[in-house]
Amino acid sequence: MIDPTNSLLYKNLDRLLLHSGEIAARVSELGREITRDYEGRDLVCVCILKGASLFFSDLIRAIDMPLCVGFMSISSYGSATKSSGVVRILKDLDKDIVGRDVLIIEDIIDTGLTLSFLIESLKVRGAASLRVLTLLDKPCRRKVELTPDYRGFEIEDYFVVGYGLDYDERYRNLPDIGVLRPEVYSA
Ligand code: IMP
Ligand code: MG
Repeated sequence: MIDPTNSLLYKNLDRLLLHSGEIAARVSELGREITRDYEGRDLVCVCILKGASLFFSDLIRAIDMPLCVGFMSISSYGSATKSSGVVRILKDLDKDIVGRDVLIIEDIIDTGLTLSFLIESLKVRGAASLRVLTLLDKPCRRKVELTPDYRGFEIEDYFVVGYGLDYDERYRNLPDIGVLRPEVYSA
């Protein structure tokens, strides 16, 4: 395990927002909730790459029922810290979802533009149900109406990294979630 006191990753953080222990406890709760809500259903958990990958692998192991996994990758054009809402599917699901209960697993909902595009493009595929679970939610930043069915934590308007979330493709491997020092952006 990385020692934060002597770490190349942690030295660029302004502060920690969510500690790995806190995240793990919430993941267990979400797993129990999903297990209860989807008991007896044909659940397909869809991981939105790359940001949700760490969260996804922990969450599905906290869901106590047989389920299927799917992976999608979408690109949202914009700067490193702002999404533009212009979205493209880079990798699509490889199995169809007709009649199945689909749960989209996201890392964070910010403006909501990326996810609302994704929901619209999955809606027409005949799933029995389509719901959204996000680890983090920044409702104050929303540009379109979108409320996740499940969420780990509501956070304020910080740009956060770690536990899968990146700044310019880096910091995904940080075990906790934190706020970067402003110098890192301006560098
Ligand atoms: P939205 O379309 O504005 O909701 O942005 C969604 C995507 O932007 C997320 O899936 C992330 O990839 C990225 N994003 C938004 N906020 C953050 C953040 O605070 N840290 C890292 N990535 C973020
Ligand atoms: Mg993402």
